[in-house]
Amino acid sequence: MSLAVTYSRASEGVDAPLVTVEVHLANGLPSLSIVGLPEMAVRESKDRVRGALLTSLFEFPPRRTTINLAPADLPKEGGRFDLAIAIGILAASGQLPKEPLSRYEFIGELALSGDLRPVQGILPLALAARNSGRALILPLTNAAEAALVKGLTIHPASHILEVCGELNGTAPLATYHGDAPQPSTTERLQPDLADVHGQQQARRALEIAAAGGHSLLMIGPPGTGKSMLASRLPSILPEMSEQEALETAAIASISGRPINIEQWRQRPFRSPHHTCSGVALVGGGSNPRPGEISLSHNGVLFLDELPEFDRRVLEVLREPLESGKITISRAARQADFPAKFQLIAAMNPCPCGYLGDPNGRCRCSMDQVSRYRNRISGPLLDRIDMQIEVPRLPIDQLMQAPHNNNTSSAEVRQRTSQAHQRQMQRNGCSNHQLNSRQISQFCSLSNQSQNLLSQACEQLGLSARAYHRILKLARTIADLASSEQISTAHLSEAISYRKFDRRPQGNP
Ligand SMILES: Nc1ncnc2c1ncn2[C@@H]1O[C@H](COP(=O)(O)OP(=O)(O)O)[C@@H](O)[C@H]1O
Ligand SMILES: [Mg+2]
Ligand SMILES: [Zn+2]
Repeated sequence: MSLAVTYSRASEGVDAPLVTVEVHLANGLPSLSIVGLPEMAVRESKDRVRGALLTSLFEFPPRRTTINLAPADLPKEGGRFDLAIAIGILAASGQLPKEPLSRYEFIGELALSGDLRPVQGILPLALAARNSGRALILPLTNAAEAALVKGLTIHPASHILEVCGELNGTAPLATYHGDAPQPSTTERLQPDLADVHGQQQARRALEIAAAGGHSLLMIGPPGTGKSMLASRLPSILPEMSEQEALETAAIASISGRPINIEQWRQRPFRSPHHTCSGVALVGGGSNPRPGEISLSHNGVLFLDELPEFDRRVLEVLREPLESGKITISRAARQADFPAKFQLIAAMNPCPCGYLGDPNGRCRCSMDQVSRYRNRISGPLLDRIDMQIEVPRLPIDQLMQAPHNNNTSSAEVRQRTSQAHQRQMQRNGCSNHQLNSRQISQFCSLSNQSQNLLSQACEQLGLSARAYHRILKLARTIADLASSEQISTAHLSEAISYRKFDRRPQGNP
């Protein structure tokens, strides 16, 4: 009887819990069984491992072999445990020493030839392996992604024989250091705000949204540049910290998206179509996968044609908008995914799209307009900090070469970054995340401003939540002006961004 133990990792949400692979050889009829809640692909591991060992000229032990993947209550999927299982079998049957095994974690799928194939979700696994202090042996193709994690010893291999060379000391594997990710070069890579003609008010709103992480709804006829503006938001957002970049990349990693090592500090911009399902938007599935809201974690979620989205799908956004995460429950499992996204939405002012357009083309009735707008529920609207109109530009303005003072994204980003720093120093978080205690501490108003705000709330019939949103927004406007105090001008600008709270009055 003989036992060997190797370590590997499963994938659960954005975590990569440790899996202990125990290989037990006993006397009896030759057989091989895998226990510990393995899914189909893991059960098929037997055949891949047997093939890989035989083609690599090892002996496949003719014994009663039991492989236990512990903990048993953790579902396991994919071929990621193949390497750990194969090494365990070799060690249990005396073809490799057992002693070094505890210093490593093994990940990788085996081809019948013994080649190592890449697996998904490397980044979360690399972070966990670093915290365990063990070295990581993984397929060569996965090495660059794992190398984003500093302080982890990485040994890439492309064949199981190379792994054996490391373990029996005959041919140690090289240690991979990777190319240090370049400092962000986003200025040149992204569409630039300088391309947008006119639309001064919308540009201003976008800058404020970027500075304080505020959500924004743009209302205007088709073709006025709403999508264009939204796609330029990432270029003016403060740069991601390393921690943020790792979190965002970890989500891309578990959804099997290749990580562009050069651009991994860029904030994501996702714009799912309005026909997308609830699962695609928020995440789900029998083995829960992140949705669009998690893929835009630390970046921008752009919902174009907001009223066209399924209302039930939109309502699900309320929870993550408040908490910055989403909990997905499926029969047996539950997974938390981070979802700290900045919501930018766009919509037409009416069903035909031309309400308020000078050409008078709109024939929608008041009733149709309000029904259209009511597709966005009050509670969702309450959670959107800013609402602005993006009107049609006179054609001559659109044709003009961009104005000289058409500031570039790089310039705007300097201002938003400064405002962001002020917030971090004072609040320790972005202004849009201020809680009510912090709001009373950091957003105090003069008597005059206090009166202005009460009046506005009464006239516009604002909710308590909208009231708080206005204060947070005013705080960001003051921060952009490097002002300690929120002035009346800052406050009235903030109030002006609640356009949509007013009932539609024919021609807004
Ligand atoms: N303010 C603008 N500056 C420069 N180009 C514009 C502007 N507004 C619209 N355009 C042009 O019109 C096209 C459509 O704009 P888009 O952003 O898709 O409009 P919307 O999303 O409001 O329907 C853009 O690709 C761009 O070429
Ligand atoms: Mg558009
Ligand atoms: Zn209309």
